[in-house]
Amino acid sequence: MPPRTLIAGNWKMNLTLPESRHLAQEVLKVAAGAGPEVMIAPPFTALTVVAEVLAGSEVSLGAQNCCWASQGAFTGEISPLMLRELGCAMVILGHSERRHVFGEDNAMINRRLKGALAAGLRPVLCVGETLEERQAGRANPVLKSQLEEGLDAIPIGAGLIVAYEPVWAIGTGQTATPGQAQEAHAFIRETLAGMSQKIVASEIRILYGGSVNEGNVEALLAQADINGALVGGAALKIESFARIIRHHV
Ligand code: 13P
Repeated sequence: MPPRTLIAGNWKMNLTLPESRHLAQEVLKVAAGAGPEVMIAPPFTALTVVAEVLAGSEVSLGAQNCCWASQGAFTGEISPLMLRELGCAMVILGHSERRHVFGEDNAMINRRLKGALAAGLRPVLCVGETLEERQAGRANPVLKSQLEEGLDAIPIGAGLIVAYEPVWAIGTGQTATPGQAQEAHAFIRETLAGMSQKIVASEIRILYGGSVNEGNVEALLAQADINGALVGGAALKIESFARIIRHHV
């Protein structure tokens, strides 16, 4: 059986506290009884208000990053234990914006992953090539090293979630075609199988992210190796996010 579809909303650095509370309340209504699992990842400062809204519900709370250490002299960082204390179940790690705007490399992302797992958070490891890398025919080697170095010395289990987010598709309106996305997802699954076991890799959810909207989600989710979506811009508009949640296969 394919793993349960996961629709995740990455709010990035958006929304005021009242807006966050309101959007979370709306997501809760839409997610109730919907087929897919739903996760939303607000900015750190809104986690408390969103956690209050989601308490006792089936919608999971996620964070957008976390430190490897549980406490200490790490100015500006947030510990995975602090996220657990707030009710987070998941954490997005290695997002393209962390890699390309803030210079996080595979080694640092690997440390963050280990910290998240040690604290009991389910990591969503983001991988994806830039346009330049794709045009140079280097997409697969880039994905492979992001997976191998990002997951170095980490036992790979079915609880791991991977998100394929081609950098050129993020926030650009230029979605990967279902065929392009499926090809990358199949390669990611094959790579994970090589690092663990085929059966384990078949249970890992691989989400697609990059300009997902209500118009393209169905065709993307119809692909064999696409097990959900990591949604940015369209997760901020409840009408769009609701259609994405409902347009599942
Ligand atoms: P957009 O859906 O806005 O392209 O963002 C995708 C993304 O980065 C989700 O993590």
